[in-house]
Amino acid sequence: MVIACPNYRIYLLVDRPPFTVLICPQCSHHFQMSPSVDIIGSQDRTPTFAPEAFEVASRELAMSVIMTEEPGTTTAERWNFETRFSIDDIGRHLNLDARHCVLDFGCGIGRVARPLIERYGCRVVGVDTSESMRNLATDYVRSDRFEVWSPEELAEQVRRGFQADFCICLWVIQHAFDASEVIASIASALRADGLVYAMNQSERAVPTSHGWHNDGIDVIELLRRSFSEVSCHSLPLHIATARMSAITKIQVLRNPPKSCATP
Ligand SMILES: C[S@@+](CC[C@H](N)C(=O)[O-])C[C@H]1O[C@@H](n2cnc3c(N)ncnc32)[C@H](O)[C@@H]1O
Repeated sequence: MVIACPNYRIYLLVDRPPFTVLICPQCSHHFQMSPSVDIIGSQDRTPTFAPEAFEVASRELAMSVIMTEEPGTTTAERWNFETRFSIDDIGRHLNLDARHCVLDFGCGIGRVARPLIERYGCRVVGVDTSESMRNLATDYVRSDRFEVWSPEELAEQVRRGFQADFCICLWVIQHAFDASEVIASIASALRADGLVYAMNQSERAVPTSHGWHNDGIDVIELLRRSFSEVSCHSLPLHIATARMSAITKIQVLRNPPKSCATP
């Protein structure tokens, strides 16, 4: 059985019931799938979307899926350095305080939500498609300033009048099956003039039955077309490898006032 890892190498199949974990022997990239996904001999079949990549059995596995091991750096290093940087950087750009409600779209287990609440006292609403990530998030963040919804629950809350002051969206749109749909959900849930802090790698990595797939959609441009870009920077070299810094874009964007939004 061979399928390509995002660095174009080959995965080995390692069974860790009830999940199937694929590990690239060259770069140690992990890719997790439920056993129901047919991957054996899948190389010559049409790739199918595999959201199971984000269904995780433990906090440890969640961490390795969220902050993937990359050439020259480990999950633990990325978790520590990037999280610390992001909390400072988000605060610098969004000017957060305890009066604010932040939408953490694609929150994972709350890597950023937890220290954001601790540092700024803000309220955070996490949203994630993965049920296991949502369950782990409640346990990891453990704060009465935090709640976690599915995208469907977010849509319902928006219908009832929910509006966040800010949105953070880190390492999510690059992986979303429908990037435009995620951007539309964020825009609908954000107050007029609210800011979005988005972090993405420049190439798409959509989880499929053949591994991470780049469908060629430019999410950085898509965000620029959907909101007004205030600034764009990257992970600094003192906390990230040169490769990670080169492929990462951090955009601060303003939601157009509702009167100007496309109908
Ligand atoms: C790489 S993790 C990043 C988690 C978190 N933002 C962080 O930086 O720690 C990507 C997360 O996005 C979620 N996700 C992927 N597509 C999504 C979508 N369309 N809507 C909401 N969440 C999504 C995944 O389930 C996963 O938890």
